[in-house]
Amino acid sequence: MLPAVHSVAMSSGEFFVDHPILRHFVATTETILKEQLEVTDRLWHLRRPYAELLNDQTWLPDEFRQPNPNSAMGGGIASWLLYRSEAKDLSLFSLVVPVGSATPVHNHLAWGLVGLYQGEQEEEEFDVPEDQHIIIQSPAKFRSNSVPGGF
Ligand SMILES: [Fe+2]
Repeated sequence: MLPAVHSVAMSSGEFFVDHPILRHFVATTETILKEQLEVTDRLWHLRRPYAELLNDQTWLPDEFRQPNPNSAMGGGIASWLLYRSEAKDLSLFSLVVPVGSATPVHNHLAWGLVGLYQGEQEEEEFDVPEDQHIIIQSPAKFRSNSVPGGF
């Protein structure tokens, strides 16, 4: 069953989860994006607010922490949109990966931060030449185990 979606329209976008902590994070993010034009600077400035968001277990409702048995990705992997800017150039979503499931090898094709809010995960990253698509057989750049709050 899909979570109840309550979209709250704002000038900057839509909140599918309406919580002051999330609104504060999005406002902080928008300020950083206006002030910092280089991606590396944006990511550096976003680290602290993102860590604070990941370490606060109060703002994400249970329905956005649930797997989706009808997921197009299979394995019950769910992707729940939490926020989307009006220009659709900024989004935040929760990805729920049930125990025993794994995402396929993929490329985000965008810059951003990916962190762990709940549970544990094992992750592999691969080097892919800029002019090529994902090469699944390429050796893992590194393998890591993440814990909540990590990114
Ligand atoms: Fe990913």
